Amino acid sequence: MLGHIGFIMDGNGRWATARDLPRTEGYKEGLNALKRVLNECAVHGIKVVSVYAFSTENNGRPSQEIEAIFKVVTEFNRSYDGDMKILYMGDIDSLPDYVAESVYFIEQKTAQNSGLTLNIALNYGARADIVRACKLAFDHADFTDSAIESRLASASLPPLDAVVRTGGEKRLSNFMLYESAYSELIFLDKLWPDMTENDVDAIVNEFESRIRKFGR
Ligand code: FPP
Repeated sequence: MLGHIGFIMDGNGRWATARDLPRTEGYKEGLNALKRVLNECAVHGIKVVSVYAFSTENNGRPSQEIEAIFKVVTEFNRSYDGDMKILYMGDIDSLPDYVAESVYFIEQKTAQNSGLTLNIALNYGARADIVRACKLAFDHADFTDSAIESRLASASLPPLDAVVRTGGEKRLSNFMLYESAYSELIFLDKLWPDMTENDVDAIVNEFESRIRKFGR
């Protein structure tokens, strides 16, 4: 049963460029695709969806593009009114105030919601998260797997069953590296804004066809 799925939403800029639109338009369309994907994930009974919205490495992009991503995320946070529970992981306090405030606002507003949990990685890097968790475990002189795992940003979430990357690249790019140790990896050539409900159905079928051995 697919309980927790992660999406690396790649290909937004290319989608826009292919239509002679500014790359920033790709992020707006990327949010529409995310809404379609989330609805279909809920139909399949998936409880948690983690998405990679902005990596710490993305800070090296042109400021116009960074601001476009922040704008899409902030507007979503300010306007979301559904039944999902929305969480963020990453270095939120280092983001511009208007972004960070919108993050804390929506986390608080949806904290008691009973729908699907949407976990958004924003200003996030898995290596930094692992190092932070190790330091905390070290402070307690506790060096077990569970001591580290319980201090990751994803500690409250169920195991990450699958990671899907769109856009044709086949790598994890510093997304949930600890959590994906036994995740099924699915790579799609499709650009993220082109994702439809049918693609989610195909992903669920693909996941169910895989035999998971967890090293045994
Ligand atoms: C990589 O694609 C994707 C990003 C850097 C950000 C994606 C963010 C969104 C779609 C907004 C989601 C909104 C919320 C509220 C979570 P890219 O544009 O770098 O792809 P490309 O350059 O390879 O085409």
